[in-house]
Amino acid sequence: MATVLVTGANRGIGLEYCRQLKARGDQVVAVCRQATPELAALGVRIEAGIELTEEAAIADLVGRLDGLALDAVILNAGVLQSMGLEDLDSEGIRRQFEVNALAPLLLARALVSQMPRGSKLALMTSRMGSIDDNSSGGSYGYRMSKVALNIAGKSLAIDLAPRGIAVAILHPGLVRTRMINFNPSGIEPEQAVQGLLARLDALTLETSGGFWHSNGERLPW
Ligand SMILES: NC(=O)c1ccc[n+]([C@@H]2O[C@H](COP(=O)([O-])OP(=O)(O)OC[C@H]3O[C@@H](n4cnc5c(N)ncnc54)[C@H](OP(=O)(O)O)[C@@H]3O)[C@@H](O)[C@H]2O)c1
Repeated sequence: MATVLVTGANRGIGLEYCRQLKARGDQVVAVCRQATPELAALGVRIEAGIELTEEAAIADLVGRLDGLALDAVILNAGVLQSMGLEDLDSEGIRRQFEVNALAPLLLARALVSQMPRGSKLALMTSRMGSIDDNSSGGSYGYRMSKVALNIAGKSLAIDLAPRGIAVAILHPGLVRTRMINFNPSGIEPEQAVQGLLARLDALTLETSGGFWHSNGERLPW
């Protein structure tokens, strides 16, 4: 049984991570701003009231964990604000950068001391953060924030290797959640998380720092 911390655990992909991890017998620490009835129904440990862009909240979370050893940390919380060149919103760009790139980096730094050798860190990114894959333009703030997360993930893979911690940079696919207004062309969170957990299970120090689709495809930077 592994102990796994998941952020953005109250809905969408994070909630599904918690459901599948619990179902396979892992101990889950579900981190969120506000719990939902769906999360509460899982019967996992919930750490609510954590606004990830506030460094004091990250410190509060670390204090609540009280040194609990974490075999995996899944930094999944994220935000998407669509915007093109015509409606650039600098505050929205800053916000996405804070939530999608800076907060995971600060939380990873705060938690590594309680991640033993052999533990794993997953960063939930997006192929929207792939420069090579960008054929449609736009989505400035979201794309910029996910590129920043990707490069942070690569540096983390290098810096954490001596501590025996492996890092996966993961794209879930287009997934039917509130983030994309439950777009019917997306896959269900259940399918996405099955693939994401397979990627996490397969992750080793040798493959650390890779950028994968939940379906196993290696994505270009
Ligand atoms: N769905 C897709 O097609 C897709 C595709 C590529 C990548 N992704 C990535 O996958 C991850 C999960 O996405 P999703 O589809 O599950 O999105 P979602 O349904 O919109 O859920 C987002 C989660 O992030 C949390 N969150 C956002 N801002 C936060 C903050 N400042 N502090 C703490 N928690 C915060 C939300 O909490 P609240 O409920 O409190 O807002 C929610 O739990 C994201 O990183 C996203 O970028 C998703």
